[in-house]
Amino acid sequence: MLKLDLSKLSAFLPEDYLTSRQAGLEKAAAMLANHDGPGGDFTGWVYLPRDYDKAEFARIQAAAEKIKKQSQVLVVIGIGGSYLGARAVVELIASPNYNLKKKDTPDIYFAGNGLSTDTLQELIEIIGDRDFSVNVISKSGTTTEPAVAFRIFKGMLEQKYGKEGARERIYATTDKARGALKGLADGEGYEEFVVPDDVGGRYSVLTAVGLLPIACAGIDIQALMAGAAQAMDELGQGGLDNPAWQYAAARNALYEGGKKMELLACYEPAFRFFAEWWKQLYGESEGKDGKGLFPASVEYNADLHSMGQYIQEGERLMFETVVSFAPKGEFTIPHDPANVDGLNFLAGKPLAYVAEKAMRGVILAHVDGGVPNVLIQMPAIGAKSVGYLIYFFEYVCGLSGYLLGVNPFNQPGVEAYKKNMFALLGKPGYEDMKAALEARL
Ligand code: PA5
Repeated sequence: MLKLDLSKLSAFLPEDYLTSRQAGLEKAAAMLANHDGPGGDFTGWVYLPRDYDKAEFARIQAAAEKIKKQSQVLVVIGIGGSYLGARAVVELIASPNYNLKKKDTPDIYFAGNGLSTDTLQELIEIIGDRDFSVNVISKSGTTTEPAVAFRIFKGMLEQKYGKEGARERIYATTDKARGALKGLADGEGYEEFVVPDDVGGRYSVLTAVGLLPIACAGIDIQALMAGAAQAMDELGQGGLDNPAWQYAAARNALYEGGKKMELLACYEPAFRFFAEWWKQLYGESEGKDGKGLFPASVEYNADLHSMGQYIQEGERLMFETVVSFAPKGEFTIPHDPANVDGLNFLAGKPLAYVAEKAMRGVILAHVDGGVPNVLIQMPAIGAKSVGYLIYFFEYVCGLSGYLLGVNPFNQPGVEAYKKNMFALLGKPGYEDMKAALEARL
């Protein structure tokens, strides 16, 4: 399913970069398989494509059907790991233009991932008087951004449909036993889905967190899981010919060799939010203890005309990972009798042929400019291939974190801003901190 091409790294890496990491990779793979490495309590994602809750999965499919019947719009409320995976998959498979398409599934809007008054107001206007449902996703239920948005949309639903009607339109994805949203959902009688205890937010796209919104977009979640399961089976075999081992070793060797940034590049604009998901996955997993590659992304060809200059000739701090998908259809470049643009030498050629040559040309140029390139080749974008890719990146991330010597499954740094925000907002219990921070403003 996935072809990893590391041939453009040879000039940048020692020959033994893989073999010298074999012991580390074996240890990392064993820790993931046995859940006994740092953060092992959060490695439930490793066997999730096989061990997922089948009864809940059927309820997710049923809820998606119900939402489709009862609503023209679904508002998905969540932030970070409770948001990015669903949006990534919906945009990549169903298109960033999904809401503009003619379809028999609801428009999907994502809310609660910021505190912008303008954005919230605009969304309320866009929904207008259409029927809508809400999927609120929060493990804790106390994350400020989604909690504020949920207050607002819950109020709107209750005003529009009454308390009973609202109950039929609110779907809560949260902890199975604890937390503010769990208590509220139990009390109000909302249909509930579970964020498993052993799966952290950034690894949760293949749980109800991602699957319910993804199913609502009409995407085949069975095929998504099947793709992930194939990756789980293949990558779990280990060995030096395993692409996950090879990629993790290469990333680690490039980092140790002085590259401080990984640039994820794709020629599909629909990939944009997948890259956002990937950035959280790698940024939160590796960026700690003063270490870690900085994950960044570019959208080609557009960014070749904006970021291209820096990538080619700026500070030599990055390597590039290019994800390439086979095209789904075919376009042929037309002949133009006037040939004003001089492009008739391409007439009759498929657009995909031009795109392929562009990609190959960019890779060679960037390698010549001192930017090592990794190429990941995938079949056409679809539920199965995307499921495979999700698991591939998750698995490589786990291996990479352990090779780097960090706990890839915690995120202590995310708390700092939250504490400051609560203190400045006057949350009870933060009084001393509030005074100290205000003195610094
Ligand atoms: O990866 C993570 O753990 C975070 O991004 C969380 O998912 C995010 O902070 C949202 O938390 P919660 O689901 O508790 O609202």
